[in-house]
Amino acid sequence: MRTSEPESTSAVELGRHERLDAGRLTECRLIEMVFPEQTNHYGTLFGGQALALMDKAAFVAASRYARRTVVTASSEKCDFHVPVRQGQLVDLVARVVATGKTSLTVEVDLYSEDLLTGDRQLGTRGRFVMVALDAHGKPAAIPPLRETK
Ligand SMILES: CC(C)(COP(=O)(O)OP(=O)(O)OC[C@H]1O[C@@H](n2cnc3c(N)ncnc32)[C@H](O)[C@@H]1OP(=O)(O)O)[C@@H](O)C(=O)NCCC(=O)NCCS
Repeated sequence: MRTSEPESTSAVELGRHERLDAGRLTECRLIEMVFPEQTNHYGTLFGGQALALMDKAAFVAASRYARRTVVTASSEKCDFHVPVRQGQLVDLVARVVATGKTSLTVEVDLYSEDLLTGDRQLGTRGRFVMVALDAHGKPAAIPPLRETK
């Protein structure tokens, strides 16, 4: 898969403008800290919160790829293998893995990571189908995903 990331911040001159057009970025990463209001009474992340974070990561990855408004059309079953505790990090890695004419399939891995020890586990993986929309809210064509050699 082709990934064209922006240059690392240390290599970019201050104030330099760049444009990352549709079809260039296939991946994004979101990191959140689990605070008490996101947990159940066991002190672990609510499943609904985990799904919301995964959907957010899928939304950002799809929007950056398409450079259009996107909506979630579907999400597949997610199994939660490990709890994420209050005070741990949730690290979400979202990748556009397929495109149709107007839809994008985004795979999202959710890792839990202990901030102090660095222990890290893949807790769940899910796929989301996002659909790009035009200014009238109708499905809009997106660039096809290309394979890297
Ligand atoms: C998603 C939505 C834009 C599709 O609109 P539509 O008029 O049914 O679109 P179409 O039938 O022309 O399909 C457009 C694309 O979406 C895909 N699609 C539509 N519904 C889908 C579904 N349930 N699952 C997977 N893909 C779907 C189609 O396969 C098609 O893909 P392609 O262009 O890559 O071949 C529309 O159903 C919608 O707005 N849903 C609400 C979205 C929303 O609010 N999400 C948040 C929910 S909390």
